[in-house]
Amino acid sequence: MSLQLPDSGAPTGPDGRRHAPSADRNAEAILAVLRAEAPTGRLLEIASGTGQHAARFAAAFPALLWQPSDLDPENLVSIEAWRRTAAAPNLLAPIALDAARPGWPERYPSEAVLIVNLLHLIPDEDAASVLAQSASALTAGGTLFLYGPFLRDGRPGSDGDADFDASLRAQDPRLGLKDRAWVEAQLLAAGLRPRVVEMPAHNLMFVARRA
Ligand SMILES: C[S@@+](CC[C@H](N)C(=O)[O-])C[C@H]1O[C@@H](n2cnc3c(N)ncnc32)[C@H](O)[C@@H]1O
Repeated sequence: MSLQLPDSGAPTGPDGRRHAPSADRNAEAILAVLRAEAPTGRLLEIASGTGQHAARFAAAFPALLWQPSDLDPENLVSIEAWRRTAAAPNLLAPIALDAARPGWPERYPSEAVLIVNLLHLIPDEDAASVLAQSASALTAGGTLFLYGPFLRDGRPGSDGDADFDASLRAQDPRLGLKDRAWVEAQLLAAGLRPRVVEMPAHNLMFVARRA
């Protein structure tokens, strides 16, 4: 099922690049966390979407080998189009990856994994699988960066988040914002030590390190 999201219908440019306004809005705040944590080595970006973040973030971290990925073949076209225009030789060609489906971590060992605005769009069991597998893809000392809107003690952080959550659940009752405590429990069970950073617009960033 194709979900109706705030950025649905983002136009495709003549060169194949699609543009999601939300990816521009949150980019600087996400970059600030990445800069503070200074990841090195290989970074696997799960659910890269249009590819805007991959192009911008890879250019900001020239020493990081940036691997974008997505489930959706149409997104891979847009990610590749952004890659062609990015001044970032460290940005690899996108790969098709269903991150909820078991079996991929041994193919993509990574010093860092980045996931932006995915978990609320998939059922709990898929979200748990994405987190467990991301954790096992991390090399020793590696870090998972997980950004998005989350519930706090079962409640949305704002009226906007409440509306968004309701619209997702109306489209599919298995979807919707995950609770912060549930996410922390999944990360701990996967052997990571999570820290939570408050982000603009009531979003959260989990920074979870493998021992
Ligand atoms: C709201 S978009 C976020 C895209 C991008 N991270 C951003 O912030 O602009 C959600 C993305 O998750 C991808 N996606 C959904 N289920 C997935 C899965 N199981 N594995 C990998 N990607 C998935 C979709 O194709 C879509 O590109």
